Amino acid sequence: MALVDIDAKIPNNVGLADDRRLQRALEQWQPKFIRWWEDMGPAAFQRNPVFLRTAVDVGQEGWANFGHVEMPDYRWGVFLAEPTPDRKIAFGDHKGEDAWQEVPGEYRADLRRLIVVQGDTEPASVEQQRKLSLTAPSLYDMRNLFQVNVEEGRHLWAMVYLLHRYFGRDGREDADEMLERHSGDADNPRILGAFNEETPDWLSFFMFTYFTDRDGKYQLASLRESAFDPLSRTCDFMLKEEAHHMFVGATGVGRVVQRTAELMREHDTDDITSFGGINLNVLQKYINFHYSVSLDLFGAETSTNAANYFAAGLKGRFQEERRDDDHQLKSVMRLVPEATDEGVGSREVTQLSALNETLRDDYSEDCEKGLVRWNRTLAEAGVSFELRLPHVGFNRNVGTFKGYRLSPTGDMISEEQWEANVDEWLPSDADRAHVQSLMVGVSEPGKMASWVAPPSRGINQKPVEFEYVRI
Ligand SMILES: [Fe+2]
Ligand SMILES: [Fe+2]
Repeated sequence: MALVDIDAKIPNNVGLADDRRLQRALEQWQPKFIRWWEDMGPAAFQRNPVFLRTAVDVGQEGWANFGHVEMPDYRWGVFLAEPTPDRKIAFGDHKGEDAWQEVPGEYRADLRRLIVVQGDTEPASVEQQRKLSLTAPSLYDMRNLFQVNVEEGRHLWAMVYLLHRYFGRDGREDADEMLERHSGDADNPRILGAFNEETPDWLSFFMFTYFTDRDGKYQLASLRESAFDPLSRTCDFMLKEEAHHMFVGATGVGRVVQRTAELMREHDTDDITSFGGINLNVLQKYINFHYSVSLDLFGAETSTNAANYFAAGLKGRFQEERRDDDHQLKSVMRLVPEATDEGVGSREVTQLSALNETLRDDYSEDCEKGLVRWNRTLAEAGVSFELRLPHVGFNRNVGTFKGYRLSPTGDMISEEQWEANVDEWLPSDADRAHVQSLMVGVSEPGKMASWVAPPSRGINQKPVEFEYVRI
C-alpha cells in the first residue's frame, strides 16, 4: 500500500509517482476539472477563504484536516481506504475466491457502466446546488454547503481515477464526458433524471442531503462490497465523507423543525407564514416529495441487471457480510409490492431478482431515523404533530407503482382525487414561492435566517459564531 503523498500535484495514496503515464493523464485532466469547477461550481464566494476539511490521510485519525482555503485551491486527491489483506469475494457466483485487483474482461463493460453512473452524480449535485451560496441562511451553513460541494468534487476524482487507471482510452473519454454533461442541460444532461433538477432553495438542499445523498450512501455501500477491490476501497473512503453530508441533511431539517416549533409556540398559531417561518404541513410536503423521488433512484422492484451484477460479484447488498444467508440468493424468496388495477398487493420472487427492493427497504428504514428525531423535537416543544414518510407507492415514477395514483397513506385513488388533493401532498407553487421568499443570505457570523434555528454546536469545536467563511 502506497503512503499518502500529500504534496504531489494530485495528493494520493495510490503511488501515482510510480506510474508516470497515469500521472500525466490525470494531470492533463486536472485543469479541465478546475475549469469546470470555476464555471459550474459555486456561483459566488469562490475566492473567499472557507473553513474546510481536507483529506490528508486515510487512517483512523489523520484524514481530516481543517483550515481556511479558497475553494479552487482545495487539495482534491485520490484516496483509497486501506486494503484488507487476502480479501475474498463475499457473495455471488465467485463467492470465496480472491477479490480482483484488475478488471476481469467479461465484466469490463458492466463495471465501467457502474462507475460512470456513480461518477456522474457527483459533479451533477455540485451543479444543482451552485446558486445556493447566494442565499445561505448563515456562514455556518454556507461552509457546510461548500464542504459538501468540494467532497462531491473529490468523489468525481475518485471515479475518474478508476476510469483512467483501469479502463484505458474508454475510461479517459468517460472522464472527459463527466465534465461535458451538465445538470439540466437540454442537449447533454446528467445520466439520472433526479440529478437534472435544480436545488432551488435551502429547504430543498437540506431535504436533498437527507434523502437523495442517502440514496448515494446506499449505492456506495453496495459498491463497497464489490469483488473489484479498487472500487471497494474507493467507495469505502467516500462513505467516510458522505457521513458529513447525511449530517448536514439531518441537522438541517431538524433545525427547521425546531424553528417552526418555536415560532408556533411564540405566536400561538399553526400558521407561522407571516412570522418568517415554514409551516409543518409544508415541511411534510417537502418530505413527501424528496423521499418519493429518491425511492425512484433504486430502480424497479425486480431487476435482471441488479441480479446479474450481484451474481457476478460487482455490487453486493448493504452490509453484505453481516447477513446470515447463502449470499447467492437464488432459492431464497421474498415478497415485493405489486400494484394492479385491483389495488396494492404483493408477489413472491427470488431475493436475487429483488435486490433493488431490498436496498430500498434498507434505505427506508434508515430514513425513518430522522423522522423519529424530528418528531421528538416537536414533542419536546409541546407541538402535537407528527411528520411521516409517505407510503412507498406515493408519487412514484419507476417500478410497479408507475402509472398508479396512491395517497400518502397508500390508498389507491383516481386521477381526479389526485388532482383535487395534490397541493395538500406535494409542495404547491405557493409553498415554493413562500420558501423562496425566505431565502435571503445572512453573512454576519453567528446570525441565522428567520426560518432556521442555530446548530447546537459549530464545526471542529469552533463556536457557532466562528467566521466559517471570510467575506
Ligand atoms: Fe458523493
Ligand atoms: Fe454526498
